[in-house]
Amino acid sequence: MTSEKMVSQIKEWLNEAAGYIQVSLTNKLTVSQKSNRTDLVTNIDEEIQAFFIKKINQHYPNDRILAEEKGFDTIDSLKGRVWIIDPIDGTMNFVMEQENFCIMIAVYEEEIGQLGFIYDVMKDELYWGGKNQGVFLNEQRLTPPKDVGLSEGLLGMNAYMYGKNIYAAGEIGHASMGIRVSGCAGVELIAMLKGSHIGYISNLSPWDYAAGLVLLNEFGYQYSNIEGKPLAFANREYFLAATPTAYTQILENFIRR
Ligand code: IPD
Ligand code: CA
Ligand code: CA
Repeated sequence: MTSEKMVSQIKEWLNEAAGYIQVSLTNKLTVSQKSNRTDLVTNIDEEIQAFFIKKINQHYPNDRILAEEKGFDTIDSLKGRVWIIDPIDGTMNFVMEQENFCIMIAVYEEEIGQLGFIYDVMKDELYWGGKNQGVFLNEQRLTPPKDVGLSEGLLGMNAYMYGKNIYAAGEIGHASMGIRVSGCAGVELIAMLKGSHIGYISNLSPWDYAAGLVLLNEFGYQYSNIEGKPLAFANREYFLAATPTAYTQILENFIRR
């Protein structure tokens, strides 16, 4: 079971991690390439992940961890209690812009999302919530956005999918009010929680969407892989989340046509 104590611990850890990240921006980062020249990791991604792993091991030694960097990026199942962590989501933005990046943490129990935290570090905005507990921005409870259709709202989009029209992403974008590309899954998910975007289409790993799904669920958004099947929480896959109306329009009019 998750508890109020766990929520306040996670918030404390996030504050400590955010303070560390902000100070780190005044020092020289060590930046390395992973799979290609645009897939980056910094010493701070690794240090922040190690920080959370140490805290979880100390306070919840029986729990398991799925996290993006070094040695924690696969898990055989979501049985028991599993923490899913993206220590810095939007590493390219972190390196190039020093803003528009997030820390994301989720707690799942027996495959069900219980808690989700998306922290926009430079804005000091923590979007968080839990199953049947609602969604909050810092200490303020948010109200669920309206169920807006595709032609009436902005859509967060993966630039490559849009440019290459993968899964009709280009056409879907043209049918919306316009696309927005932030380079950070957390920022896109926050835009949906605020009601400024109606959906998000991308190519994501479990740590990119785990926290967001807990919060989207509270607000009645629908989500799945781009073909409408459940997300696997395994490898990177094409991702769709949207208001119920836009979700159905995208699947019926563009994917299953
Ligand atoms: C990336 C960002 C980006 C998304 C990529 C992710 P990272 O996360 O969220 O917006 O398009 O698919 O990998 O690698 O910066 O944590
Ligand atoms: Ca990351
Ligand atoms: Ca990420």
